[in-house]
Amino acid sequence: MRSTIQQRFMLHAMRVASVLVAGLALPVLPALAADDRAQLALGKKLFLQGVVPSCAVCHTLQAAGAEGAVGPVLDELKPDAARVAKALRNGLGQMPSYKDKLTDAEIEALSLYVSKASGGAK
Ligand code: HEC
Repeated sequence: MRSTIQQRFMLHAMRVASVLVAGLALPVLPALAADDRAQLALGKKLFLQGVVPSCAVCHTLQAAGAEGAVGPVLDELKPDAARVAKALRNGLGQMPSYKDKLTDAEIEALSLYVSKASGGAK
C-alpha cells in the first residue's frame, strides 16, 4: 500500500520534472538564435570595416555589398567556417594573416558570417 503511494508520487514527480525540463529547454533556443544573430552582425561589420585591410577591399561578397577584386569571389568559393578561419589565422598567398589583429571571438564571428553569407556554411 505504502509503496503504491510512493510509486504514484514518483510518477507524478517525474511528470512535473519533464514539464519543468521542457519549460527550461525551450527558452534556450531563441537565446541561441539571438547569439547567432549577434555573431553574424559582428562578422558583417568586421568584413566591411574595423580591421585593416578590410576583407571588402579584396573580396566580393554580395550579401555585404563588397566588390573587391584581388582575392577570390567568396560567393563562388563558398568556404565553410573552418576554411575561413584557417585563412584568417595563417594568411594565404597575397592575403595577410589576421592572427594578431583579430581576437579568437572575432575570427569565429567573421568565419560564421562569411560561410553563411556566401552559402558555404555546412
Ligand atoms: C590584400 C587583399 C586581401 C584581403 C584584405 C583579404 N583577403 Fe582573403 N584572400 C586574398 C587572396 C589573394 C586570396 C587567395 C589566396 C590564394 O589562394 O593564394 C584570399 C583567400 C581568401 C579565402 C579563401 C581561403 C582558401 O582556403 O582558399 C577566404 C575565405 C578569405 N580570403 C577571406 C578573407 C576575409 C574574411 C578577409 C577579411 C578579414 C580577407 N580575406 C581579407 C586577398 C585578401
